[in-house]
Amino acid sequence: MNKPLLQTIGLHKSYPMGKNSRLEVLKGIDLEIQEGEIIAIIGPSGVGKSTLLHLIGVLDRPTEGQVLIEGEDVFRYDDARLASFRNHTIGFVFQFHHLLPEFSALENVMMPGLVARQDHATLQKHAMELLHQVGLSGRAQHRPRELSGGEQQRVAVARALINRPRLLLADEPSGNLDTESAQALHEMLWTLSRQQQQTFVVVTHNLDLAARSDRVIELYNGRVKSDVHNSNHKIN
Ligand SMILES: Nc1ncnc2c1ncn2[C@@H]1O[C@H](COP(=O)(O)OP(=O)(O)O)[C@@H](O)[C@H]1O
Ligand SMILES: [Mg+2]
Repeated sequence: MNKPLLQTIGLHKSYPMGKNSRLEVLKGIDLEIQEGEIIAIIGPSGVGKSTLLHLIGVLDRPTEGQVLIEGEDVFRYDDARLASFRNHTIGFVFQFHHLLPEFSALENVMMPGLVARQDHATLQKHAMELLHQVGLSGRAQHRPRELSGGEQQRVAVARALINRPRLLLADEPSGNLDTESAQALHEMLWTLSRQQQQTFVVVTHNLDLAARSDRVIELYNGRVKSDVHNSNHKIN
């Protein structure tokens, strides 16, 4: 087996609750994620799916345990290096897109590339290509409020891909959309991540999305309840 792209070892996360107790959310998660896998994370509301995704995406630190990316314990980096690593390596799509309202779709897509100090002209060309791929080339100059929910979410996907992240993470990306827009978003996420042979981890309640994945990880009571490979889904 190749070295995993990402590995979690004994991951625990608790949050302070009241004065002197803590809410134990994750109670020891051990996972290996291989490059190119498409993984769905499922489980009841409040089980810790978002918490796990934030740890995998190095947006938040575990209470205990490690996240290794290509064997590197990334939480040993200082905050500045961690932020830079995250910006270059990981793309996020959240349930609510968090687009910047004062900027156009194009500018929103370019933003992580600007932070990463990419050449402006190259960046703009790439952002336009991504907008084209998500079916919004005609909307580049529109502000988020001039776009539908599904379109805003597609802009958020393009933005997540601008730095060509090795790892794409999505937290209930279609949770806020009607069935049709959700379906369109799923198609697009799949096509794009397969095309780029990207590793893609998606938290979802959507059974269609889970069924399409290479692998489904179910969380229950702070632990991995099941971890099932759908080997017949490779061609999707
Ligand atoms: N920053 C936080 N502070 C305190 N409690 C939190 C925080 N984030 C999440 N929680 C709690 O941790 C549990 C897991 O939350 P979350 O990871 O969002 O679950 P899921 O995404 O599976 O619905 C919930 O009970 C939630 O209220
Ligand atoms: Mg959540």
